[in-house]
Parts: sequence; C-alpha cells; structure tokens
Amino acid sequence: MAAPAAAGDLRFLLVGLLLVVVVGSRLVRPPDGGGIPTTLDGPFEPATRAFDRALRQGSDDVGSHLTPLDPSTVRSEVWYSERPSPTAAAAGDVSGHYPHVARGKAEVYSQLYPYPGLLNYTSGAIHHVRLRGLRPATRYYYRCGDSSVRGGAGLSGELSFETLPSSAAAAYPRRVAVVGDLGLTGNSTSTVEHLARNDPSLVVVVGDMTYANQYRTTGGRGVPCFSCSFPDAPLRESYQPRWDGWGRFMEPLTSRIPMMVIEGNHEIEPQGQGGAVTFASYLARFAVPSEESGSNTKFYYSFNAGGIHFIMLGAYVDYNRTGAQYSWLEKDLRKIDRRVTPWVVAAWHPPWYNSYSSHYQEFECMRQAMEGLLYQHGVDIVFSGHVHAYERMNRVFNYTLDPCGPVYITIGDGGNIEKIDIDHADDPGKCPGPGDNHPEFGGVCHLNFTSGPAKGKFCWEKQPEWSAFRESSFGHGILESL
Ligand SMILES: *[C@@H]1O[C@H](CO)[C@@H](O)[C@H](O)[C@H]1NC(C)=O
Ligand SMILES: *[C@@H]1O[C@H](CO)[C@@H](O)[C@H](O)[C@H]1NC(C)=O
Ligand SMILES: *[C@@H]1O[C@H](CO)[C@@H](O)[C@H](O)[C@H]1NC(C)=O
Ligand SMILES: *[C@@H]1O[C@H](CO)[C@@H](O)[C@H](O)[C@H]1NC(C)=O
Ligand SMILES: *[C@@H]1O[C@H](CO)[C@@H](O)[C@H](O)[C@H]1NC(C)=O
Repeated sequence: MAAPAAAGDLRFLLVGLLLVVVVGSRLVRPPDGGGIPTTLDGPFEPATRAFDRALRQGSDDVGSHLTPLDPSTVRSEVWYSERPSPTAAAAGDVSGHYPHVARGKAEVYSQLYPYPGLLNYTSGAIHHVRLRGLRPATRYYYRCGDSSVRGGAGLSGELSFETLPSSAAAAYPRRVAVVGDLGLTGNSTSTVEHLARNDPSLVVVVGDMTYANQYRTTGGRGVPCFSCSFPDAPLRESYQPRWDGWGRFMEPLTSRIPMMVIEGNHEIEPQGQGGAVTFASYLARFAVPSEESGSNTKFYYSFNAGGIHFIMLGAYVDYNRTGAQYSWLEKDLRKIDRRVTPWVVAAWHPPWYNSYSSHYQEFECMRQAMEGLLYQHGVDIVFSGHVHAYERMNRVFNYTLDPCGPVYITIGDGGNIEKIDIDHADDPGKCPGPGDNHPEFGGVCHLNFTSGPAKGKFCWEKQPEWSAFRESSFGHGILESL
C-alpha cells in the first residue's frame, strides 16, 4: 500500500455519513448538557487531559516520490447498530455485533502546482458512506473503515451519533452550534472545546475551515498573511496537510455530531496552471445533501433540522438573478411548508450587513441580487462569517430597519490565524477606500447611502442603526428554539 494510504485509511471524514443523519430526525432531551462554567462554579478539581499523539502525526510525508493510492482498492464501510457492541473494544470481528453494514466509495484528490518550489499533494483515501433508513432522534453505534484490513486494523473503534428530530413544527434540535472562520490555532481549540461543551445536536460551519492557504510549505508554520510573506509566489500555495490535521482536530466532534458546511474564500485554493482548478479539497472532503435538495452542486443546498429549514448559499459561484443558483433558491423557498418548518435560516460566508472595516460592502452585488427574494419569503435569520468578529443586526431590509427583515448575524470569529477584526467603518479614519474590499468572486457594487444619517456617504459616522451589537472576540454561537 502506498504511504499516503496508510495514513488515509483511518482518516475518516464522517460528514458523508452524518449527512443522512440530518435527513431523518426527532428530539430526545438529554439531561441538561450544561452551559459553559464560570469562575463562580469553581474552584475546579485540577485536571489534565492526556495529549492525543495522533494530533502530532504529520501528513508531511507528501511529495512526488510517493505513489498515490488507488481509491478503488479500499473498502469504505460503516457497521452500525442501535445498541452498543458488548465487545466494542475488541479489534477484528465486527460481523456478529452490528446488524447493519453500509458500503460507499473512497476518493482521493490532488493539489498540484506546475511551479518549482510549490508543494504537490495527494490526499489519503477519503471515504463517503451513506446510511439510509435511519430512525429520527435515535442513537446509533458504529465502526467505520475497511474490514478487509487484517486484524481489524482498518476499522475505527466504536463511536456513536444521534440522528436529528424529524421535520415537524414541534420538534427542534436541542441546540445548533454555528461557527465560522475556524482555522487550526490555539484559539480554534478553545472555540471547539466550548462548542463541544454546549452539547449541540448539529454544527453549522459558515465557511473558512482550515486556512491551509495561510501556511508555509516547510514546517507547516502559519503566516498571518501569505501574500505579504511570499510576494513572489506565482500562485497562492495551499498547504494541504493542514486539512488532514484539521480533520483529526475535528474528529472528536464530527464523529458524534452532524456537521454541515458551506464554502468560504479560503476553500477556493486555486491550483494548476494559473489557478485553473479550484475547491478540490472542499469538494472531496465534505458531503452535503445537494442532490436531496435539488441543487446538484455542493456550493449551495438546503436541509431540514426538525422544524428549521436551513438554506446554505454559495457566494463564490454565480449568484446573479439569471444564474442556476438563483433559480434553485427560488424553487427551494417556494417549496417550504411553514407548518412543517416554521423557521427558515440561511447561511453563507461573506456578510451582506457588516459595519466592520474589514470586508465592508464586499458582497454588495450579492445582496443586491438576492436580498429581495429572501425577504419576500420571510427568511428569519442569516448567519455569515468572513469578518473575524461578532455582529448582530437589527431586522433590516435594503439597509432600512424593517420588522419583516431577517436578523443577520456575523459569527466569523472561530479562532483562525488571521486575528480578530477590531476596526469599525464608522471609527475615525477607518472608513475603507474604494480600492479596499474587492471580493474574490463577483463584481464590486459599493454604494453610498441614499437616505438616513449617512446619506451621500459610504460610511456612517457612528454605529449604524441596523447594527445592534458588535464584539471583537473569538467564539461560536448557539441557536436554540424555545
Ligand atoms: C507537481 O505537479 C505538476 C502537475 O502535475 C508538475 O508539473 C510538477 O512538476 C510537479 N512538481 C513536482 C515538484 O513534482
Ligand atoms: C488567542 O489565543 C492566544 C494564545 O492562547 C491568547 O493570548 C489570545 O487572547 C486569544 N485571542 C482571543 C481573541 O481570544
Ligand atoms: C453577474 O452578471 C454580471 C453581468 O451579467 C457579471 O458581470 C457578474 O460577474 C456576474 N456575477 C456573478 C457573481 O456571477
Ligand atoms: C433599495 O434601496 C435603493 C435606494 O437606496 C433603491 O434604489 C432600491 O430600489 C431599493 N430596492 C428595493 C428592492 O426596494
Ligand atoms: C461617496 O461617499 C464618499 C465619502 O463617504 C465620497 O467621497 C464620494 O464622493 C461619494 N460618492 C458619491 C458618488 O457621492
């Protein structure tokens, strides 16, 4: 077996499996999952969590001297049951203990640069297995991997996850965690620890997962700004082993809680001659219910989680009114039955409403194209990332306070290497210029306000009335239906 395969066999992307979890669902209320303890709950017993050596195993063993794995030579299996296996700890034989087995497919992807000095990479096997017919609000116990590998070495230990409640007005996921711009830093670690302690039943990631394109090729060391450190790089290199590290970092969470993702600009990762190929890692590593929601692309899709209909939109693919995404969105919105899913939540990476200097009005073209449609269909909440801070808007439509508009929330403060955003566009001297904040996709539609206190101006002189609250800190959000 080729070297990348050895690392790849056990490196499971559970998102594929978990997607099905979201399709059928119902709610069991656990004992209070516990909030984040405060110092008032202390003093706490001293505790040290053993270091997981797997986190140190680099995948730096990539390069041109290795033969890429043929994904058709491995099995992708999930063995599962509604009861824990009495011999879960024993390796080897699983057949006696799991009444169900589902098989899927493995794939590998490559990130290749025809430029000297940039690192080529081919992934280990990425397995996608779909489980059908799961019951809502039910805990399943499973092992995943390749049972043909001797002695059970190709199978994970026993893990478990709980399916979401079925789509119904009275059945809500216990808690939905929302996080954006996460990365793989000490700050990401504390965000994910806090998030896990809130015991969500679903995690929604609003783009920018690993920041692999902020890492050097030697030593895997991060740079806050790749283009500043490597002004002569012919193409912005993306250090793919970072994705493997991120997968291992997230596994304790993703192996037991369904996760839905949407692409951000850091997932574009151009490769090949002149950057002709994009999104290879995002497309290979994640499974989302595109087909089920009639979209046929992982760049936008929708799903239900109990009584909430989630719409995930792509800001880095055509969003014009004449485009495929727009007509898919129209159809999806028309199909919603508010008696079944009273709440509609949308999410995409770059915010439309944002009063920080960073990315100010960057996706104004997208807002102008799509806002009317979401408003017309009464979308309740919109989550975005991209800006590395928290901001919650008042209900707004077309930059005017409107009780029927959605609440927009920016939650792009997961803990990535680019640091927190602190400047507001209304701070003295911090209003961006016309050359700033051009999107990595689509046009520039910066506008000056035509009414209100900022009439004729690009920026407000105080916090805009549509901005209800902002805070520069790292963290995540929890959405509960009460
Ligand atoms: C990386 O892959 C590209 C495209 O296949 C190739 O042109 C290039 O020579 C490779 N680089 C190295 C260092 O092997
Ligand atoms: C990020 O982590 C560093 C190192 O642990 C810490 O000093 C810093 O306060 C954190 N930043 C935020 C915004 O939480
Ligand atoms: C939308 O269409 C216009 C022209 O029709 C084009 O210039 C623009 O790039 C398109 N935007 C996107 C996001 O595809
Ligand atoms: C939004 O406001 C602008 C003026 O600020 C106006 O030209 C435009 O027609 C409005 N759009 C909608 C959909 O009301
Ligand atoms: C937009 O506002 C900026 C200042 O905020 C001003 O310099 C510029 O001239 C305005 N543009 C238009 C077309 O009014």
